[in-house]
Amino acid sequence: MNGLRLEKVSAGYGETVVLEGVSLDLPPGRMLAVLGRNGVGKTTLLATIMGHTRLRSGTIGFAGREISALPAYRRARLGIGFVPQEREIFPSLTVEQNLMVAERPGPWTLARVYDFFPSLAERRRNHGNQLSGGEQQMLAIGRALMSNPTLLLMDEPLEGLAPVIVDALLRRLDRLKREDNLALLLVEQHAGLALGLAPEAIILDRGQVVFAGASRELLDDPARLTSLMGVSARHAH
Ligand SMILES: Nc1ncnc2c1ncn2[C@@H]1O[C@H](COP(=O)(O)OP(=O)(O)O)[C@@H](O)[C@H]1O
Ligand SMILES: [Mg+2]
Repeated sequence: MNGLRLEKVSAGYGETVVLEGVSLDLPPGRMLAVLGRNGVGKTTLLATIMGHTRLRSGTIGFAGREISALPAYRRARLGIGFVPQEREIFPSLTVEQNLMVAERPGPWTLARVYDFFPSLAERRRNHGNQLSGGEQQMLAIGRALMSNPTLLLMDEPLEGLAPVIVDALLRRLDRLKREDNLALLLVEQHAGLALGLAPEAIILDRGQVVFAGASRELLDDPARLTSLMGVSARHAH
């Protein structure tokens, strides 16, 4: 259990159970796409790994230990980085300050994040609220990298971005997956893009895993992908 392993995890909020019997494996340095239409529990899955939901049953293992009972800050300290769906940039801090608040020792430094996202270097003295959507997303990812995680959870990083920005970000994510043995868990609604990037995928439907396997299986069988994603997938952007 070196990497991330969920076994039969059921979790939710208060009395509400959202995830039911979710199991997944993400070895170190690998990338897993988590797909599923709106409201199926993708964000809840990430929140559960981070320790922000109520775990009802099952176990969560990370980096060789059982973390289910650990509070969120201890999980972060063990090396789990999180890029939230709402990005949560500090609007009144500069780009550089946003990055520095997350700093922890390791291979990712300010200089390396700027080298990785040159547009952040150009904007280093701008405030969070002066950034475009794409720049905010790069900053959210850069900030997570500053904490030097070994596992990075990303919640719909491509959402709401212009196609040209999506392309640029995809190239960065593709490079990221080859860096430092970093494990990536990518939640996406853009199924085609996520499957192109991550060799393995799971699909959630109503809090349950309805597919787990090679992305190639889904790319080779669009009808199966559509049916697994549910009817509304056809109407998604
Ligand atoms: N903080 C919360 N409290 C109660 N229910 C929630 C909360 N967040 C999400 N939910 C519910 O959990 C379900 C899954 O939501 P979510 O994990 O956000 O789905 P997704 O990210 O796949 O769109 C939805 O029915 C949603 O209404
Ligand atoms: Mg979500």
